[in-house]
Amino acid sequence: MATLRDKKSPARNVKKAWSGRFVEPVSELVQRYTASIGFDRRLAEFDIQGSLAHAQMLSAVGIISSTDLASIERGMDKIRKEIQSGRFVWLLELEDVHLNIEKRLTTLIGDAGKRLHTARSRNDQVATDVRLYLRTSIDDIMRCIKAMQQALLDLAEKHADTVMPGFTHLQVAQPISFGHHLLAYFEMLQRDVERLVDCRKRVNKLPLGAAALAGTSYPIDRKLVAHKLGFDGICENSLDAVSDRDFAIEFCACAALIMTHLSRLSEELILWMSPSFGFIDLADRFCTGSSIMPQKKNPDVPELVRGKTGRINGHLVALLTLMKAQPLAYNKDNQEDKEPLFDTVDTLTDTLRIYTDMMTGIRVNQEAMRSVAMKGYATATDLADYLTKKGLPFRDAHEAVAQAVRFAEKKNCDLSGLTLTELRKFSPKIKQDIYAVLTLEGSLKSRNHPGGTAPSQVRIAIRRARKKLS
Ligand code: ARG
Repeated sequence: MATLRDKKSPARNVKKAWSGRFVEPVSELVQRYTASIGFDRRLAEFDIQGSLAHAQMLSAVGIISSTDLASIERGMDKIRKEIQSGRFVWLLELEDVHLNIEKRLTTLIGDAGKRLHTARSRNDQVATDVRLYLRTSIDDIMRCIKAMQQALLDLAEKHADTVMPGFTHLQVAQPISFGHHLLAYFEMLQRDVERLVDCRKRVNKLPLGAAALAGTSYPIDRKLVAHKLGFDGICENSLDAVSDRDFAIEFCACAALIMTHLSRLSEELILWMSPSFGFIDLADRFCTGSSIMPQKKNPDVPELVRGKTGRINGHLVALLTLMKAQPLAYNKDNQEDKEPLFDTVDTLTDTLRIYTDMMTGIRVNQEAMRSVAMKGYATATDLADYLTKKGLPFRDAHEAVAQAVRFAEKKNCDLSGLTLTELRKFSPKIKQDIYAVLTLEGSLKSRNHPGGTAPSQVRIAIRRARKKLS
């Protein structure tokens, strides 16, 4: 980690890039309050990439000489190595990552370093850095989501035939395949990837060339810079380019949805792992014990994912609020975009990585799932459908089955535990073939259409999903 000479060293001797207009230095407190170097250092690599592309363009169109360009490239190479090895000294007095790097460049190469900022402002520079950073982060996150989806599919494949109770209102509703349940999360994450792909298109536009806000009088070539930095195009309006952060807000909205999906899954894992359900067990490495209750194994990781979702939602609201009353064009408010954005990326990346590993360590208690499905009369709808298919209006069938459930409850058995004579008391249409319908497997199998829970459909869905990942 590089060092940051900080708070205690006022170092008034460092000349500010903008100090020419001022008659007194800022107080130490204001210096600390306005500096972003404590957190924007992590943009350094993108700042260097942006500066190199800008300098190459300046040289290509003849604004700076090729000798200056060579010096800038040499200096940046050295700076990059200093940063990577942790030797670079970051100065709080130099405010931010841009001025720290520029100052060091000038120390290393002299006047050529001072020419780098021609036809550029920190306003278009920082917007470019953040976009480059976010583009890379989105690509990383998409890879993480795909790994998580892969883990979901592997588990779903193992459990295409595993029966669990499906819930509505957290009351047992109908039997479903556990694999099918997991595939619901595959779908959510697939939409999350689509959203990120779309968001990336708007992130991947070049602000450089907008300069402070109005563009520049130099004969710059923005398309060349965009091409060098791998942008799909340029920001079309200079005021918009330096001032809006909607691309970051949009990303945070995507992140909030991803976390929301993972939070829902977390809630389920927590419930399923509770001894009252006993459906699954998480590997020990994702849980902790209690310092007072020796029997406890707490699902800390899913609980924290659920908890951290609040923090990610908070970042989204922070950025929306940051933007909402800003007049055009750039305002220093925008410096506050970074910490929420960085934390969103970090939290989301860690969450996805941990989750992927956690999926591979889930042990399923099939017996517990079955017995809850049985006790909950999960096949009651199947009985109603059976009667309807034999000509009874659905509402009457519903009523007959409700009576049968009450009777079974008294007898303390499942619907399939009733004898044919008992069942026929509720409708003479019931025949021996009812027992195929009342089993959990029979119920699953009958939902045999695209999107349904029949194990054969689950296998088809898994194959389809794997294709999307390849
Ligand atoms: N540190 C600033 C930020 O993050 C860089 C841009 C500063 N521009 C300015 N005009 N003061 O937004």
